[in-house]
Amino acid sequence: MIENMKKHYKSVFENEQELLRALIDIYLSGKKIQLDPMYFKGNFYKDGIEKPDYCYDIQTSLCGDMNSPKVADARNLEWFNDEKFNSIILDPPFLFGIHGKTKDYYSSQTHTIFNNFAELEELYRDILKEAYRLLRKSGVLIFKCQDYTDSKTTMTHTLVYNWATELGFYAKDIAILLRPNKIYNPNTVQRHLRKIHTYFWVFVKSRRKYDRKHEAIA
Ligand SMILES: C[S@@+](CC[C@H](N)C(=O)[O-])C[C@H]1O[C@@H](n2cnc3c(N)ncnc32)[C@H](O)[C@@H]1O
Repeated sequence: MIENMKKHYKSVFENEQELLRALIDIYLSGKKIQLDPMYFKGNFYKDGIEKPDYCYDIQTSLCGDMNSPKVADARNLEWFNDEKFNSIILDPPFLFGIHGKTKDYYSSQTHTIFNNFAELEELYRDILKEAYRLLRKSGVLIFKCQDYTDSKTTMTHTLVYNWATELGFYAKDIAILLRPNKIYNPNTVQRHLRKIHTYFWVFVKSRRKYDRKHEAIA
């Protein structure tokens, strides 16, 4: 009896593929994610995590051969009919505020950093809206995000929750990925906790809208 019992997944992971495998097992009945419109180099897809049939990225430099994504803007995938997909994953850039040294490492031209928070909000809201349009009822959106501390802290994952539930997504679950070895500068004075975790929201398309207490309001 005990031998037949399936191991239960915990909500915190140290390996991204193990995390994705758990979400795919529980929420997608083991079927692969169907659409990834912010593919970058496709780092999600290894160790048994199957590549989606539809992969896109806005950076033309990433696109080219048969195995790479095609060029598209995740805010507008207009050639797909409404409610085409059962599952989508979104992994947008999370850094914002180009100044000082940040400029040396990132460029707004590569679509990996926003100039300011307003740009992040606009993109996040737009990609959530497009994902909502593209998902069937009860379809699943996995949304990777992380909080960001620069001169001040932005709890991005709570904002993503608000923006998604306002649209009609139900926040069904959240998984946390730990990256204990993240690089940092030991010579700086520590003014806040060094964030070593990212979030994977599991949103389900619902026809109802939710308020912040998780109660259906429409
Ligand atoms: C954090 S990376 C994704 C990393 C990817 N999940 C991986 O593991 O390799 C974010 C990607 O979103 C892309 N991106 C930014 N804005 C976009 C948009 N409007 N439409 C499509 N892709 C976009 C960037 O070019 C970048 O490659």
